[in-house]
Amino acid sequence: LASIEVDISGVQEGMAIKVMWRGKPVFIRHRTQESIEAAREVDPEALPDPASDESRVNKPEWLVVVGVCTHLGCIPLGNSPGEPRGEYGGWFCPCHGSHYDTAGRIRKGPAPENLPVPPHSFVNDTTIKIG
Ligand code: FES
Repeated sequence: LASIEVDISGVQEGMAIKVMWRGKPVFIRHRTQESIEAAREVDPEALPDPASDESRVNKPEWLVVVGVCTHLGCIPLGNSPGEPRGEYGGWFCPCHGSHYDTAGRIRKGPAPENLPVPPHSFVNDTTIKIG
């Protein structure tokens, strides 16, 4: 399918889900105010792959990223309760230790780039269209 629609009504604040889009995992996280602030208080230019948090989200509460580590393609952890989210509270790739922040940006480890943000839009308050 070129595009999918995802019901996000059941995703509690602080939680994330994984859906499949074009054969790839896509992570959708319902961000807390705290994690939004954490993403916004850093200087984007100081990051390995500079990008502002604002440039990566349509609505601050919802982050959508392709869940494939930009190092060698493992699936980072951090969606389910109890999974490590790394030192920056986003996702952690256990293969070689890449840490992504609450905007899906690479902060530490061998991955060269941020988790990509796929094209997405809000159909309504509880539905995201990806693709
Ligand atoms: Fe993720 Fe190497 S594949 S750190």
